[in-house]
Amino acid sequence: MERTFIILKPNAVRRGLIGEILKRFEQRGIKIVGMKFLKMSREQAEKLYEPHKDKPFYNELLEFMLSGPVVVLVLEAPRVVEMVRHIVGATDPLKAEAGTIRGEFALTVTKNLIHASDSEENYLRESSIFFREDELIDYYLDV
Ligand code: CMP
Repeated sequence: MERTFIILKPNAVRRGLIGEILKRFEQRGIKIVGMKFLKMSREQAEKLYEPHKDKPFYNELLEFMLSGPVVVLVLEAPRVVEMVRHIVGATDPLKAEAGTIRGEFALTVTKNLIHASDSEENYLRESSIFFREDELIDYYLDV
């Protein structure tokens, strides 16, 4: 079974959108196997966004991600990397389709509410910054 990693960004928490966002994954039947509420350390944020460190938006992105608590999750389902990105919508909210999380609730590309891994390789890299393997819980979903 495939897994992916997501972050509900500080504005999602501050806007009271945790339930609204998680509902969309749960109602699809996607399983939560890891979940934490935390304030990211600078070291964690730098590791997470290391691939973007030379981009012009890097500093703004880092400060935003450190500006308040986030919720980090590991989700599990068949083809979940692609499925979650489909539910989340395009990185730029202007291009995100109606009905997606960003298409309905986000306004700017920095404050685009949620991060989702774009590959299994990045799932492994990103999730390991926030979760140990023994913190991910295996169980079955009920009817
Ligand atoms: P995320 O999925 O967290 O991964 C990298 C983040 O960089 C992305 O979401 C956006 O929040 C941010 N980002 C990407 N492109 C831009 C851009 N052109 N300007 C500002 N922020 C950006």
